[in-house]
Amino acid sequence: MRSQLFKTRITEMLGIRHPILCGGMGPGVSDANYVAAVVNAGGMGFIVAAGFPDPHVFREQLRKCRELTSGKGFGVNLYISAQAEATQRLQEHVKVLAEERVLCVETSGASPEDILPALRDAGLKVLHKVPAVRYARSAARLGVDAVIVVGNDSGGHPGTYGISSMVQAPHAANEISIPLVIGGGIGTGRQLAATLMMGADAVLMGSRMLVAEELWIHPQYKDLLVQSDGTDSVVVKTGLRQHHRVLNNESAKAVAALDAIGVSDFERYRPHVMGTLTTQAYLTGDSSLGMLDYGPSVVFANAVQSVEVIFDEVLDDAQRAMQRMDLLHCEV
Ligand SMILES: Cc1cc2nc3c(=O)[nH]c(=O)nc-3n(C[C@H](O)[C@H](O)[C@H](O)COP(=O)(O)O)c2cc1C
Repeated sequence: MRSQLFKTRITEMLGIRHPILCGGMGPGVSDANYVAAVVNAGGMGFIVAAGFPDPHVFREQLRKCRELTSGKGFGVNLYISAQAEATQRLQEHVKVLAEERVLCVETSGASPEDILPALRDAGLKVLHKVPAVRYARSAARLGVDAVIVVGNDSGGHPGTYGISSMVQAPHAANEISIPLVIGGGIGTGRQLAATLMMGADAVLMGSRMLVAEELWIHPQYKDLLVQSDGTDSVVVKTGLRQHHRVLNNESAKAVAALDAIGVSDFERYRPHVMGTLTTQAYLTGDSSLGMLDYGPSVVFANAVQSVEVIFDEVLDDAQRAMQRMDLLHCEV
């Protein structure tokens, strides 16, 4: 593992060497193998709880990750639904997290208010992910440990405002006093250095990591990512106000057509957005169907590499960016 380049509130809080978090990727994409590789490379990763609905399988994933990381801390991604019964189900998950001594959670979706006491009791560090600074402010007031603000380039759910990470980073740094992570469109060390300069404590990467050797998704799909220049990323489901940034495949085009005519009935979308299509695409490598979360930062994924090699490249690039700043800087 590379020596430490940056010490921030996030590296200190999570006990990690590099200020690089790899966001949870569903359904079941970020599993124990991948998250362990991220943690062993000096970052923080998150197993997506929703990807393992069977509690026994979920617990096995947590145990496997603990074993593969020799007991280092790792994280779990929890999707928070606004529905009360879903919060109840989540409480069950939280019990398992406490028993298996998980270090931290990346929460996303609705406000973490209802689940926060249970997360606190379980001794978990809570990093709440939001698509706009206004939600980060509310989460900070609730008492989460850190916020993750993602911009419009973000693969998955970038929110409805369409604000870039370039704006979110300095805006959030002005407004938020707790540790801050910025994501969306990040895949290079230059962006890591710039994001830290803008006031953040770490970056979050998702799409850039999809080519990681440790991910189980089909090699044919990874090849598509390697070839991509990022222009095949599109935001759909705007008709439902559930903006979703995905690969512009046949399903995305069908959904965009419904968006364009203002359809707001989910049943019309269902055949194109079923989770089974997504899993099938990752398993077979046929990416023509399914909602495949996919941001333009795939342009930085130029080869299938181990997580450690990806981190090395990012850190080398960050170091070069710092040297460039030293050269450009005029002494006054
Ligand atoms: C394939 C994929 C699946 C994702 N699934 C989830 C998920 O289940 N839950 C979640 O909170 N975020 C999910 N995300 C979002 C990431 O955790 C992260 O916020 C995002 O990828 C960062 O932006 P980037 O893709 O531009 O790096 C997913 C992203 C990708 C690329």
